[in-house]
Amino acid sequence: MSIEAQLESACDPDDARRTLLIATSVAAAVPALSTFTALVRTFEPSERAKAAGAPVEVDIADLAPGQMKTVEWRGKPVWILRRTPDMLASLKGVEGQLADPASERNRDEMTPAYARNAHRSIRPEFLVAIGICTHLGCSPTAKFDHGPQPSLPDDWNGGFFCPCHGSTFDLAGRVFKNKPAPENLQIPRHMYAGDTRLVIGKDEQGEA
Ligand code: FES
Repeated sequence: MSIEAQLESACDPDDARRTLLIATSVAAAVPALSTFTALVRTFEPSERAKAAGAPVEVDIADLAPGQMKTVEWRGKPVWILRRTPDMLASLKGVEGQLADPASERNRDEMTPAYARNAHRSIRPEFLVAIGICTHLGCSPTAKFDHGPQPSLPDDWNGGFFCPCHGSTFDLAGRVFKNKPAPENLQIPRHMYAGDTRLVIGKDEQGEA
């Protein structure tokens, strides 16, 4: 192309308009793409979560009423207790003896919003709690039988007993008054992936 022709083409207003349109489309696509990338990142586990450990999926189909199973998540024991109607009924009866019946203490860390209720769980039947005492980290033992027994009050309604310094917890992991443990047992972030699949370490907001 001659120099005259190139000069003429460069000044062609149609060419200039086309160039402007393409540039505008690309510029518009960039924020859309970055918004999409940010959205994907939001649903990805954070580096901290990945380093700490993946969520654990548990089959709870074989858990009979009154039974408890323990699984490990991030090196911690997680209890899954399937409560009977009697066990659930006992929760109301002990509220007056508890240090924090509504799970208000340190609640963002200890009790996710969906577990701040009378049964401290998503499904009333299932308690999902970290089995580590909030005093100095011992592992409480299950004491589901009612009535007098060593180290427990005569009107014991079932719950958990920490053998290290005597803290007691009800069947929702709530600590009784005047015990060394300062807080209720922690409820980990969790969700259900179907009727009989429980996922620990993840909820609708993402990974813990
Ligand atoms: S560690 Fe449980 S009462 Fe001290």
